[in-house]
Amino acid sequence: MTSEIKITKVTQSRVSEVNLENITMGTNFTDHMFICDYENGEWNNARIEPLVLIPTHPAAMALHYGQAIFEGMKATLGKDGTPLLFRPEENAKRMNFSADRMGMPSFPEDLFVEALKQFTALEKNWIPKSTGSALYLRPFMYADEAFIGMRAATSFKFIVMASPAGPFFSRKIKLFAEKKYVRAVNGGTGEAKAAGNYAAAIRPTEYAKAKGFDQVLWLDAQDFEYIQEVGTMNIFFKIDGKFITPSLTGSILSGITRMSVIDLLRSKGFEVTERPITISEIIEASKNGTLEEAFGTGTAVGIAMVEEIGNNDLSIKFPAENPVSVMVNDTLNAIKVQDIKDEFGWIVEAK
Ligand code: COI
Repeated sequence: MTSEIKITKVTQSRVSEVNLENITMGTNFTDHMFICDYENGEWNNARIEPLVLIPTHPAAMALHYGQAIFEGMKATLGKDGTPLLFRPEENAKRMNFSADRMGMPSFPEDLFVEALKQFTALEKNWIPKSTGSALYLRPFMYADEAFIGMRAATSFKFIVMASPAGPFFSRKIKLFAEKKYVRAVNGGTGEAKAAGNYAAAIRPTEYAKAKGFDQVLWLDAQDFEYIQEVGTMNIFFKIDGKFITPSLTGSILSGITRMSVIDLLRSKGFEVTERPITISEIIEASKNGTLEEAFGTGTAVGIAMVEEIGNNDLSIKFPAENPVSVMVNDTLNAIKVQDIKDEFGWIVEAK
């Protein structure tokens, strides 16, 4: 297909109806969406149009067999008001990794980045300015072929929509170390950003919240011993001055914030090791006084500092001070609005 994107604008933006500086992510949506159709083995008709409801056949295969994947990205404003994206090429790559795992077609990565740039430039007035706020971008792909039967669909939609987002957690979080339900298994779909992974997490997360926790700490499916993810985030621990994060062993999503934090910490002189981490060693580090900090990393949340990990048999409390987590959070936020130099080359201008 040609990568030309046809743009049809709304006659009147809704942005003035919204208080961008005090807004909960996912509750308001911008004026437009990017949309592209996959039929007869190719992507066609790339366009940006006013955001509308999409007619869906009740037999659309995504509704029945879950061929649905998504990405999360954030747009911010640079010093001179230029809209900025954070490592969009990594989202393009990961989307195609997910597509491959779920039997879906890949989407041209250059068109993905170009679509995100043009869409973000058009929705520039929706980007909040306050610290930690951003325009959350949601690229997603789903099977829209009407068919009842178990096989890969032959028609798909790729869409990008956006929602202005304030900071996610305004306080530290408590994690429920889940010993009954699992998020993913090796060989399963946990490495893909597949909608079904999130569906499977909803009920256990509700149970954790009912017990007074904020998110689930997911453990491995075999021994309930190896730490995997936390809520919809990757996790880092600081023990005795050094950082560790679970290695990507086949059931963990490769977070773009995760990979950025590893680079950032190393650039600040910290040792960061990716390796299997057990809950027992976190308990041990807590007992011997070497457990210093922990935080979750994700696009929507950013950096979520951890206050406690617990369950019916366990309570691990973290020290009140977590200076390195704060530094990581502040540095990422500053890079994203060009308050400090982006020495990593992560920022891409959307124009
Ligand atoms: C993200 O961090 O972008 C996610 O995909 C999590 C989402 C469920 C809010």
